[in-house]
Amino acid sequence: MSVEDNRYPLTSDLNGLAIEIAMMGAADEADVLAFARTLPPHDLLFLRRDITHPKVMQAWTRQIEEGSIVSLLARREGQLVGCSAVVRDEMSWSPHVGDLRVLVAPGGRARGLGRLLIQESFRVALGLGLEKITAQMTVDQKAAITAFEGLGFKPEALLRDHVKDGTGQKHDIAILSHDVAQFHSQLEAYGLTDMF
Ligand SMILES: CC(C)(COP(=O)(O)OP(=O)(O)OC[C@H]1O[C@@H](n2cnc3c(N)ncnc32)[C@H](O)[C@@H]1OP(=O)(O)O)[C@@H](O)C(=O)NCCC(=O)NCCS
Repeated sequence: MSVEDNRYPLTSDLNGLAIEIAMMGAADEADVLAFARTLPPHDLLFLRRDITHPKVMQAWTRQIEEGSIVSLLARREGQLVGCSAVVRDEMSWSPHVGDLRVLVAPGGRARGLGRLLIQESFRVALGLGLEKITAQMTVDQKAAITAFEGLGFKPEALLRDHVKDGTGQKHDIAILSHDVAQFHSQLEAYGLTDMF
C-alpha cells in the first residue's frame, strides 16, 4: 500500500483562502525548521523530540526518505502555515499502528486548517494500510481534542506528568486513537470500500 499517486500537491479552498497541501521532502527542511521556531514551545510538547533542533529536523527528513514518516505541508501564498505527519515503525511490534501529528501556525488557527490536515493525513494512513491511528497531545489542547474527536478518535489513555517543558514543569499527555479496521468494516457495510 502507498500514498495515492498524483493527489499532492492539491489546492483546497478554506473559506475563501487557497491552501496548498504538498508532501514534505528534504528540500523543505529549512522552511519547516524556521516554521517550528515561530511556534510557542508549549505547542511542541506533544512531539517526542524538539523539532526546533536542526538534528531532529534532519532525522525527520531522513525518516521521510526511508518511508517511516509521511509529512504534509500546508502553504498559503507560499508561506508555511501548517504541517502534519503520519509516523510508523514497520520493525516494531506495532507495524499496523501510525501516530498522527498536526501543527498549525497560531495566526492561522480556528479556520479549519487543522481539520483539513488531519483529514488528509488520515487518508494517507488509510493508503498505507494502517489499522490503528493514535494522536497524542497535552490535555489543554482543546482544539486538538475537538478536531480529533470530531473525526472519530476516542480517548484511550492519560499519561500523567509525561512531558517536561523548558522550565521543568510537567504536563499530562492524552492519547486518542481511531480503529481504522473497524472503520473499514463500517464502510464495507455501506458498500463504500471503493472510495479507498
Ligand atoms: C490542534 C491544531 C492543529 C488545530 O488547528 P486549527 O487550525 O485551529 O483547527 P481547526 O480550525 O480545524 O479546528 C478544529 C476543531 O477545534 C475547534 N476549535 C478551534 N479552536 C478551538 C479552541 N481554542 N478551543 C476549543 N475548540 C477549538 C474547532 O471548532 C474545530 O472543531 P470542529 O472540527 O468540530 O469544527 C492547533 O491548535 C495546533 O497546532 N495546536 C498545537 C499543536 C497540537 O497540540 N497538535 C495536536 C497534537 S496531534
